Amino acid sequence: MAIKKILTFPNPVLREKAEKITTFDDELKQLANDMGKTMYNAPGVGLAANQIGITRQIVVVDISREENEKKFIALINPVISEGEGSVTGEEGCLSVLEYESKVKRFQKIRVTAQDLDGKKLDFEAEDRFARILQHEVDHLHGTLFIDHISRLKLTLYKKKLKKILKNK
Ligand code: NI
Repeated sequence: MAIKKILTFPNPVLREKAEKITTFDDELKQLANDMGKTMYNAPGVGLAANQIGITRQIVVVDISREENEKKFIALINPVISEGEGSVTGEEGCLSVLEYESKVKRFQKIRVTAQDLDGKKLDFEAEDRFARILQHEVDHLHGTLFIDHISRLKLTLYKKKLKKILKNK
């Protein structure tokens, strides 16, 4: 297992649309393991393959219930098939350095996806889990949470980022 480098905005790979996965083999399982390890190392609660430079439709999401647990699921070709309600909550992203902002998301969603063996999944998610899933599925479409904030906030963030990058 290996920890991968996480790409950060404005890296253009983060804007690419991920391709559908059709082969469910050991290499895919290895990728999921590497993504899980990379996510916990960051640390974060979700990671999409684009974020490590792989434009394939796979995300990992933390599902741990206890503090020191490291349990995650890998979702292949995930789609938000239904959404209802709306909640505004704070978001950040491993690919967006030193920034958090409020983002409006569906409160409850229905997700269709496949597991690492290609088995079809169809489930509902609410609240925090639903938020993470919407954020990660966005990544696969080349969308970042900062695309959901106001132009003014984005301009301010870009200025801040310039300073951060200059001091690195
Ligand atoms: Ni993210």
